[in-house]
Amino acid sequence: MIYFDNAATSLYKPQEVKNAVVYAINNLTANPGRSGHDLSLQVSNMVFETREVLKKFFNAENYNVIFTKNCSEALNLAIFGTLKNGDHVITSCYEHNSVLRPLKELEKNGVEVSIIDCDLKDFHKVLEENIRGNTKLVITTHVSNVTGDLTDIKSVGKICKLHGIRYLVDGAQSSGHLRIDICNSDVDMFAFAGHKGLMSITGVGGLIVKNGLKLKPLIYGGTGTESKNLIQPEDFPEGFEAGTVPTISIASLKSGVEFLIKNFSKIEKIEENLAKYIKNELKNIKFLKIYSNIDSKNVFCFNFENVSSNKIADILNEKYNICVRAGLHCAPLVHKKLNTLQTGAVRVSLDFFNTRNEIDKLIIALKEISLLL
Ligand code: ALA
Repeated sequence: MIYFDNAATSLYKPQEVKNAVVYAINNLTANPGRSGHDLSLQVSNMVFETREVLKKFFNAENYNVIFTKNCSEALNLAIFGTLKNGDHVITSCYEHNSVLRPLKELEKNGVEVSIIDCDLKDFHKVLEENIRGNTKLVITTHVSNVTGDLTDIKSVGKICKLHGIRYLVDGAQSSGHLRIDICNSDVDMFAFAGHKGLMSITGVGGLIVKNGLKLKPLIYGGTGTESKNLIQPEDFPEGFEAGTVPTISIASLKSGVEFLIKNFSKIEKIEENLAKYIKNELKNIKFLKIYSNIDSKNVFCFNFENVSSNKIADILNEKYNICVRAGLHCAPLVHKKLNTLQTGAVRVSLDFFNTRNEIDKLIIALKEISLLL
């Protein structure tokens, strides 16, 4: 089997991550932040250390890390925790439904929503002309989960800072693939998924939030702090993590991020070479329309013109044992822009464990398919 669906969930988990899961199941099953016994404290320490490892990896020294169950929940927390009736928010047409749907929900209740329909790489060039007196939040994906296109988050962050507007980045696809420097990017909130580029098991994501930023919690309940208080404490991070956090997933995330810290230069090089290679090879296939920009690093999408992407994905799966994702990728507005709402698009998403040999097999398969159409 050849796996090119890493933008959905990464297939490869380093042995260290697998060991961390087994260790945690055997040794770290108490509840962190609640009881005072040694085992509870040991688990609390592991959770604390994971926050520190993430801060180091993302260069987010003056930030808090809030754990959520996935990146969608982190984005919901940032969006519902920031916006209220009468506020204005600006975002791009490249966003995933985990941004668009919360915004559409808020729009029903009087939040003004502007969705900019430009290329992602140009978002910072048209942002300023869309800012209003009541603009409270700008949201962009870092890397499109459909095309792999990139936002210039430093330029967007600079504009937001200048206008006193909060900037939220959806890092679901960039985390673990790009070098990310949150402290030097004027990003206020950064959402990540554990189970993609950070190589954890599923069940954990998070929101990295600048110190001092005021946020409303999304989930209310027990935090292990201020138990006498019937009002939700808004202290970071516990006030935003009501209920028990997913400790086994967090243990695996710690190990995944440590693996990345240790190997990132190597990983970066491998992914760069694979990206260069696949872009060149795809260009040589007749009738293939490629939608990804030249700068995309790990996500590529294409179609045989007027052919349903699901049909191509099914053939790749059934005849060649190659896993890709077709359809709309939960990001319908990008497809509207690309004019692929009817067909969807075939998406190939790489990780550093993929090989040139696997790409060669995909290219052969696509060439054979092109002869059948
Ligand atoms: N958002 C994930 C993807 O793009 C699941 O496939």
